[in-house]
Amino acid sequence: MVKVLCVLYDDPQRSTSTPTARSELPHLSRYPDGQTTPTPSKVDFVPGELLGSVSGKLGLAKFLEGHDFVVTSSKDGPDSVFEQHLPTADVVISQPFWPAYMSTERIAKAKNLKLCITAGIGSDHVDLEAAAKANITVAEVTYCNSISVAEHVVMLILNLVRNFVPSHEIATSGGWHIADCVSRAYDLEGMQVGTVGAGRIGLAVLRRLKPFDTKLHYFDQHRLSAAVEEELNLRYHNSVESLVRICDVVTINCPLHPKTEHLFNKELIASMKPGSYLINTARGKVCEAQAVKEACETGQLAGYAGDVWFPQPAPNDHPWRSMPNNAMTPHVSGTSLSAQARYAAGVREILECFLEGRPIREEYLIVQGGGLAGTGKHSYTEGNTTEGSDEAVHFDKDEALQEGPPVKMQKVVTGGC
Ligand SMILES: *[C@@H]1O[C@H](CO)[C@@H](O)[C@H](O)[C@H]1NC(C)=O
Repeated sequence: MVKVLCVLYDDPQRSTSTPTARSELPHLSRYPDGQTTPTPSKVDFVPGELLGSVSGKLGLAKFLEGHDFVVTSSKDGPDSVFEQHLPTADVVISQPFWPAYMSTERIAKAKNLKLCITAGIGSDHVDLEAAAKANITVAEVTYCNSISVAEHVVMLILNLVRNFVPSHEIATSGGWHIADCVSRAYDLEGMQVGTVGAGRIGLAVLRRLKPFDTKLHYFDQHRLSAAVEEELNLRYHNSVESLVRICDVVTINCPLHPKTEHLFNKELIASMKPGSYLINTARGKVCEAQAVKEACETGQLAGYAGDVWFPQPAPNDHPWRSMPNNAMTPHVSGTSLSAQARYAAGVREILECFLEGRPIREEYLIVQGGGLAGTGKHSYTEGNTTEGSDEAVHFDKDEALQEGPPVKMQKVVTGGC
């Protein structure tokens, strides 16, 4: 018997929440590069069900019968259910959307821990250095939601450039203020669009943007093949600085590790083309929160959109919730129902390997045998990016749930002093 401690986000809490909208999902057996989608022996859920929140249990309840399977959303602070069970857990599962931060201190407490599974992609919520030292394996479901995020990025770019959110708010509030809608609206066609990171997500974003007749740029520590550069008419930059100087739209699609932490600081944002758009669906900590907010206020950034914050959940008064010209959501891009079916199956595949003593797929490995391994070796650098994550304890769910109008964009000052 093993103890599996699984942290998932809360079940729907708003009275307006409806059951899922569709009854089936398209069936995919391979990702664009040929890698197979997860291959567990079977699954005990219907793809399209809500699996990522507590009652969905990632569809693992039946499979883990006979084991000690604890599922909770209570993840932050010393009184959390997570911390109570951590010292005796063999396996920890959590998701980037609602991460159980595995800081140095928590890894030290987890004396039995052998495996940390990320139900999704991005294991920066685990202190990878401490995990390696403790001989803990860290694995994630590589590719499971890369296309989900890439679709979201394209949506956010169009959203900002075309000024969708304020126009939608005018429509739903009964208005018809066309000039207000369009005074910040442009066409994407012809713009210079660049991605920082051209891995699975970044490349999928570039492919999806090609038909918009944009001029495409990328920076990555691993250069793409000449054939792909030619196919998409890409311009490669050997530094982030070179890319942001000329792009109208910059999208961040790199993992968070010590070399990308706070990459978009005051100085880098100041070197961007004035009035550019910044889209970050990678990790909140790749950007400095205050620097982004100030740039949105001065107009250096025409808009900022994304779904990633630090820590998560973000404090109720996080500046990105209320800064001008933002199109932020909670962390959702990689947890569509489509993505959930894949990451739930991938977690089951990893657990089956662990329980049967079979090797976990190389492409799922981040840390194993005391160091970075598999995909981790390609995408991460040594170190820890969980510092500051204990601030997540300050999020107040009840404050957020109070009824009333959502926080509006800052009022435009029209004269006076
Ligand atoms: C590390 O863990 C693996 C199994 O997960 C085990 O086979 C190996 O002996 C461990 N290494 C050390 C140094 O404890």
